Amino acid sequence: MNTNYFECGDCAELLRLLPDASVDLVMTSPPYAERRKDTYGGIAEADYPEWIAGIAKEIHRVLKNSGSFVLNIKENVVDGRRSTYVLESVLRIAQIFRWTDTYVWVKPNPFPTGNRKRLKDGFEYCFWFTKSKGYKFFPEQVLVPSANKDLEAEKRRKNKGEHPVTNGSGMNMSRRVATDMVRPSNVLTLPVDSTNHEHPASFPVALPTFFIKAMTEEGDVVLDPFAGSGTTLFAAQQLGRDWIGFEIIPRYTEIAQERLAEIV
Ligand SMILES: C[S@@+](CC[C@H](N)C(=O)[O-])C[C@H]1O[C@@H](n2cnc3c(N)ncnc32)[C@H](O)[C@@H]1O
Repeated sequence: MNTNYFECGDCAELLRLLPDASVDLVMTSPPYAERRKDTYGGIAEADYPEWIAGIAKEIHRVLKNSGSFVLNIKENVVDGRRSTYVLESVLRIAQIFRWTDTYVWVKPNPFPTGNRKRLKDGFEYCFWFTKSKGYKFFPEQVLVPSANKDLEAEKRRKNKGEHPVTNGSGMNMSRRVATDMVRPSNVLTLPVDSTNHEHPASFPVALPTFFIKAMTEEGDVVLDPFAGSGTTLFAAQQLGRDWIGFEIIPRYTEIAQERLAEIV
């Protein structure tokens, strides 16, 4: 299969051209409903869950059995209310995939909303779906420094294993060894990218980087069907993965191609 290319067009059609079980990770952020009526028409809120479910079925087909689908989306605000179609869409996708976890992306530097009756929007979700229990997962690739304030004392503790301490979930902690680097939680704190590559909603590179490291190996194939300025594919290239990007707006496809050309 050809990899390392962008294609300009509707991903609902372009996905059909990819072979079955050929992709290891899909990481993407689709447009909200009713957007860009001037360019690609926008999807009506009422039609959105069915539309995204159709795309999710194609993603399911092209993913390998060990593959993951990470969907970054959040209920947008319309007329002062959070829309419900996003959650309905997530529930539809959960009928197609195994809903494995929900990550929260915390933005320490959120953009102002311009609404005096609403605070800045400081987080988004990344819904993680898998195809089977045999999904790839490499937490050791995304370890973070331990925040344990008693780390040094615990490392020196001689009587490990003598106190059957349990944590809140009933897990026996007595044999745990304190280490400098630990598994992160599913809350990711990553600043938004102020150099947005002419795109109003580009990811910070660190966001796809996290999921690509945690869910793929070198040489695996990463797909972003709503590629925008190409950030997911940029991260994939940096990490030695193969990649494919689809984007419906020609100017964004050009921007993505230019970004990738700089590092390929
Ligand atoms: C939220 S943005 C993605 C931004 C991207 N993550 C980045 O870092 O730049 C969604 C993108 O999907 C594109 N898009 C909308 N409908 C599409 C479709 N049917 N097929 C492919 N791309 C589409 C939009 O033009 C937009 O650039």
